[in-house]
Amino acid sequence: MITAETYFSNVLETIHNQEWQQKRDDPEPYIKKALDIFKNIKGKVIVEIGSGEYSSSIFAKASKTFYTCDININSSRSAYQSIIKDTSILGTLNQINESLDPDMLDDFGYSQPAPDGWPITYTGNTFIIELDSNIKTYNKDKKPTQTAAVYNGDGLLFLQQFTDKIDLLYLDAWDIGTEHYKERHYEAYLKCRDNLNKQNIILIDDTDVDFSRELGYHLNENKNILNQKTTIGGKGGLLISHLLENGYNVQFTGRQTCLTNF
Ligand SMILES: C[S@@+](CC[C@H](N)C(=O)[O-])C[C@H]1O[C@@H](n2cnc3c(N)ncnc32)[C@H](O)[C@@H]1O
Repeated sequence: MITAETYFSNVLETIHNQEWQQKRDDPEPYIKKALDIFKNIKGKVIVEIGSGEYSSSIFAKASKTFYTCDININSSRSAYQSIIKDTSILGTLNQINESLDPDMLDDFGYSQPAPDGWPITYTGNTFIIELDSNIKTYNKDKKPTQTAAVYNGDGLLFLQQFTDKIDLLYLDAWDIGTEHYKERHYEAYLKCRDNLNKQNIILIDDTDVDFSRELGYHLNENKNILNQKTTIGGKGGLLISHLLENGYNVQFTGRQTCLTNF
């Protein structure tokens, strides 16, 4: 009998195992296809749940407004660092949980009150950190054309508080095999359903893989990614069928699955 602790550490070891991961498609072409659709509908706002250095930077560049949220402070940091590499993007790091991380201020330099006219709403728990090493003072006349905000906290809590209209929702948080990972991604959609724009895109990562106690990890290696029936579901295991029942169309599926309501 394995203990719950061993079970979950095995789960995480497998999902982060490189040899196993190499059998899978790269997410990049999927992200780019979703962005083509986003551009076609002239989308503005992208929200990512589960941040990553690569995805955050590509999404931030492709959209006028980008929000990314991660429960892990280190993932939030790396997402933040990837975003501020692009000097046209105004960055903030918001703590939506109660505790401010003192290391964060040390790492990034300073905190200060929000200047007037910035497009991000500030709360008592929000602090600004250095935006760009070249910009030492904020120029009120130079409005940024793009904004990106990194939140450190739980994705469900974040979506519950989020009020902007979302054009593209990218769900990629709770790891495959961790407790209730399918349910959590489904709940994430439910939390923000009313804030999805009239035309909207839902992109879900890791839909090519599943985990069960009986079978362990299993991959769908079928290359016909447009055949809905061959997808396993993974993080979209509950959400994809719910969306299909509610008028969504699958644009593509495989490593990632993209659905639109148009
Ligand atoms: C697979 S990684 C994200 C990768 C990223 N989206 C990319 O494309 O590069 C999953 C992330 O989800 C985060 N995560 C797990 N549970 C979460 C939660 N409850 N809320 C927000 N993020 C969560 C983890 O900390 C981890 O950084």
